[in-house]
Formats: sequence, structure tokens, C-alpha cells
Amino acid sequence: MSKPSVKQYYEPAPDTDFEAFAAVVESRRSIRRFADEPIPDEVVHRCLDLALLAPTSSNLQAWEFYRVVDPEKKKRLAEACLSQPAATTAPELIVAVARLDTWEEHSDAILEVLERSEWAWPKSMKLYYKVVTRVAYGLGRFGELSLFKRAAIPLTGLFRPIPRGPKSRAELVTWAVKSSALACENLILAFRAAGYDTCAMEGMDEARVKRIVGLGDNPDAIVTMVISAGKRVPGGVYGPRIRLPRERFIHEV
Ligand SMILES: Cc1cc2nc3c(=O)[nH]c(=O)nc-3n(C[C@H](O)[C@H](O)[C@H](O)COP(=O)(O)O)c2cc1C
Repeated sequence: MSKPSVKQYYEPAPDTDFEAFAAVVESRRSIRRFADEPIPDEVVHRCLDLALLAPTSSNLQAWEFYRVVDPEKKKRLAEACLSQPAATTAPELIVAVARLDTWEEHSDAILEVLERSEWAWPKSMKLYYKVVTRVAYGLGRFGELSLFKRAAIPLTGLFRPIPRGPKSRAELVTWAVKSSALACENLILAFRAAGYDTCAMEGMDEARVKRIVGLGDNPDAIVTMVISAGKRVPGGVYGPRIRLPRERFIHEV
């Protein structure tokens, strides 16, 4: 029996509660002191699952989350976060990592999902995960693809719109960190929606953090941030929120 075309797939948009969402966003603050009270495992897992639903470039999911549960590792991780109270008082510490070395494997895995799907996906989609991702995100074993892209992209760009990167390792880092940071925001908002609070931390020793979670000195694993979570206590919010005027940031052109 032939599979139905995925073009027939329809997912209606369910009703949502904008005010409830606004309340989650508006009540999120960076919390630097947490109650000595654990977050139930199922809440943490639900929030992590919601993090994985963030949009991700080419759906390549070049991210990872390490929930540190071992008490000894947690202590070392809090120290690696410069012993900030946001880390030392938190019942949960989660290390968000962007990976430069998983996208190829993920591209193959997605291809397999497409092949096994109950839906018939277009050939172009399969070609995308077989070939296009390799060109778009690959730099070449010896950097040869990077060199080619650096020459060819600006030239082609003179005549037609073309994605400008990633053409270098630095651009690939930006690429992976972008999607990973979106997943971090999902996680942060999920915790707030569940009645808990967080602090995103880049005030940490990345080399130590990587060793603690078992990533050693893998240069292709970038710690996007460490996220602490728990229940806020009085004194946990360091003052009223400060934001500069919106005119500075929101432009209509
Ligand atoms: C990527 C990132 C890294 C951060 N690192 C730290 C940190 O190491 N320590 C800390 O206390 N707050 C940290 N913060 C929190 C910011 O200081 C905070 O978001 C900002 O002051 C605005 O306050 P609000 O989150 O309460 O709105 C970080 C936030 C982000 C997004």
C-alpha cells in the first residue's frame, strides 16, 4: 500500500492563552537564591522535553542538556560556576551544550525517520538531509569546503540571495549556539510555567564544566550556559527589573 503524501498532513492550531503566556514571561526573573527544596523529577523531565521542542536550524538539533544529579558532581559544578549563590543554592543544575560534531549523524537519523515514516516525504526533503546539509554545514575535513564557500558565497551573492554561512568554524559555533540558546529559553520558561525559577549562567569555567559532565576537552562541545532552577526565596531577586527603553531595540524599517 502506498503511503499518503505528507502534503495532506494538517495540524490545526489549538487555542492558546496569550495572557497565561505573558504571565510566564513577565514573572520570569533571574533568581540568585533558591529554597532548599527539590523540584520533582517529573517536572524537570517535562521541562527538558519542552526544551527539545524549540525550533532548531534545519532541525539538526545540535544541542544537549546535562542534568547533573550526582551530589559530588553538583558540588563541583557549583564551584565551576564560580560558587555563585544562583548555583550553590540551586536544587537543579543543567548544563546546556551546543555541538558542532553531531549534525551529520542527526542528518542521517532524520533521513531514516523520513524513510520509515507513515507519510511519503518529497524527494527534495530526502536530498536535503542526504546532500544539502553536508554542503550547508560542512567545512571539509581539511577546511577545503570552508575555503570554497568563502570564495563562492560572496561571488554568488553578488547576483542572487544566498545563505552566507556557516563558512567557518566561528560561524558554525554561532549556528549551533543560536539553536541551543532557543532551547535554553524554552527550558527557562517551562520551569516558570511549572511554578519554578531559574538563573542562566555564563559566569562559569567552561573547561571545568565540560570535564564534570564528561565532555572532556572536546572542542566541538560548547557550553551555551548553565541553568540553575528551584523555588525562589525572599532575597532571591536582586532588585526590580531593569530594561532600557523599547525604542532602542525595536525598529520598524
Ligand atoms: C547567557 C546569559 C548568561 C547569564 N549569566 C549570568 C551569571 O553568570 N550570573 C548571574 O547571576 N546572572 C546571569 N545572567 C542573568 C542576567 O544577569 C539577567 O538575565 C539580566 O540581568 C536581566 O535580569 P532578569 O533575567 O531578571 O530579567 C545571565 C543571563 C544570560 C541570558
